[in-house]
Amino acid sequence: MNRLVINADLGDTTISRHIYGHFAEHLGRCIYGGIWVGEDSPAIPSLRGIRTDIVDALRASKIPVLRWPGGCFADEYHWMDGIGPRSRRPTMINTHWGGVTEDNQFGTHEFFDLCEQLQCEPYICGNVGSGTVQEMQQWVEYISFDGVSPMADLRRSNGREQPWRIRYWGVGNENWGCGGLMRPEYYADLYRQYQTYLRDFGDNQLYKVACGANSFDYRWTEVMMRECVQRDRFLMDGLSLHYYTRGGPAGTALSATGFGETEWFSVLKSTLRMDELLRKHIAIMDHYDPDGDVELLVDEWGTWYAVEPGTNPGFLYQQNSLRDALVAALNFDIFHRYASRVKMANIAQTVNVLQAMILTEGAHMVCTPTYHVFEMYSIHQDATRLPIDLTCADYAYGGDRIPSLSATASRDHAGRVNLSLSNLHPTSAASVRCDVRGMEVAQLNGRVLTAAKIDAHNTFDAPEQVQPQPFTQATIIEGGLDIHLPAKSVVVLTLEGRAATENG
Ligand code: AHR
Repeated sequence: MNRLVINADLGDTTISRHIYGHFAEHLGRCIYGGIWVGEDSPAIPSLRGIRTDIVDALRASKIPVLRWPGGCFADEYHWMDGIGPRSRRPTMINTHWGGVTEDNQFGTHEFFDLCEQLQCEPYICGNVGSGTVQEMQQWVEYISFDGVSPMADLRRSNGREQPWRIRYWGVGNENWGCGGLMRPEYYADLYRQYQTYLRDFGDNQLYKVACGANSFDYRWTEVMMRECVQRDRFLMDGLSLHYYTRGGPAGTALSATGFGETEWFSVLKSTLRMDELLRKHIAIMDHYDPDGDVELLVDEWGTWYAVEPGTNPGFLYQQNSLRDALVAALNFDIFHRYASRVKMANIAQTVNVLQAMILTEGAHMVCTPTYHVFEMYSIHQDATRLPIDLTCADYAYGGDRIPSLSATASRDHAGRVNLSLSNLHPTSAASVRCDVRGMEVAQLNGRVLTAAKIDAHNTFDAPEQVQPQPFTQATIIEGGLDIHLPAKSVVVLTLEGRAATENG
C-alpha cells in the first residue's frame, strides 16, 4: 500500500520561486529564431523584436528569473559588441555552438527588454574565461549606475536613461571546463579578484554567484567554500552546480523519442541522482557555512539527448516527451527537499535547446510536456514546504529498482495545501492513501499530465498530445484523501478546508 502523510500545519521552509528559473543561451535557435525574431519580421508577431507568443507562454507559466547569455557562450561574449545601433554591431564566431556567426543583434538592451516583458528577474553571467576584470566591472556600471560616468553616459547615448536593476550576477560559467579549464584553486583566486570590482551602485545590490562544480566534483565545492572567504565573510552569495540527465551507458546519447522501457527507466534513475548530488555538496557547504550564508544554485539542469536527426549537432535541438515531464517533476521534488539551501535552479534551456520548454519552427510554436510541469508546479512558488512522509512500492526493472512515486506538499499564502505527485511506473497505476494531518479537507481540485505512450510528445502538427487535463481520481475521505494515479503521470492537487481541531 502506498501511503503519504502530509503535515498541513507544520513547515518553516519557503520554496523559492527561483527554483523555477530558466536559462537562455546564444546557442542554436534559443535566442535567434526562438526568442528574438528581429523588429522587421512581420510574419511572426513580436514586440520590439521579441516573440509575443513565447513571452505570453512563459508569463503564463510564471517564469521568475532568466539566466543569460550562457553557458559556454558567456565566457567568450564581449558585451560591448551587443550595444549601440544594431546595424553597426560587430560579428563574432560562436565557437562552442556550431561555429556560426553571431551578429550581436540581441544584447544587453534586448535582454532587459525581454525580462521586462516577461516580468522576471534578470540573471547575467559574465565572462571570466576570455574577458577581463575591467570588462565585467564596466558591464555592471553600464547597467546599474545612475550618475555621470563613462559607462552610464554610454548607456544613455544608446537610448536608456534610467539604470536597470540587476541582482543576480554570475562570475564565469563552467570555468572547470569550457570557461577556461581551470583548477579550483586558480578559479577561486580569480573569483576573489573579479568579485572585488563588482560594485553596488545606489541601492542596486548584487547577488554574486561563483561558478560551482560539475556534477560529482566535490573537491571543487570544497575549495570554493574554503578559499572564498575574507574576514569570516563569504565573498559569494551563491555557488552554482550543473548536472545534466543523460541516461544510458556512459558515452552514448539516447534518443529523445522512440525509446523503450530500458531508456525510460535509465533516464529516471539518472535523474534521481540529483538527490545524492545535492546532499553531498550541501554537506560540504554545511561544514564551512553552518549558518547557510551561501546559497546553492543549480543554474543548469535538464536532459541531454542526441540531437533530432538532420539538425545541426552544435545546436542541441531535441524533442521533449512525457519522460521529460517526469524528469522535471522529479527534479523539482528534489530541489524542494533541499529548499533551505537550494534557492535557484535554471532549466537548460528555455527555447529549442536541450530540455526545452518551448519549440519553434518559423511562425509555429509548441509547448512541451516540460513546459506543462513548470506551469502545473508553479503552485509551489514561494509556498511553505510541508513535511511529508511517503512510503511507496518500488518500480523494479531489469534487476534494478527505484521508488515508484515522488511528491511535494506546500502551503500557499492563501492557506491552500498544494500537492504534486508523480507515478514513475510506465504501466502500473498506483493507489495512494493520503493522510492530511492538521487540516480538514473540504474541497479538492486537480490536474493530471499523462499520455498513452511513454514517448508521447507535442509536435507542430499535433501540439496537444500531452496536455494537462482535469483530474478526478482523488476523493476526500475521513482524515485525508484516496488518490488513484494513472501510470506515467504527474498530478497536482489543491486542497482547501480548515484547520483541524485538536481531536479532529
Ligand atoms: O546548456 C548547454 C551547455 O551545457 C552550456 O553552455 C554549458 O554551460 C553546459 O556544459
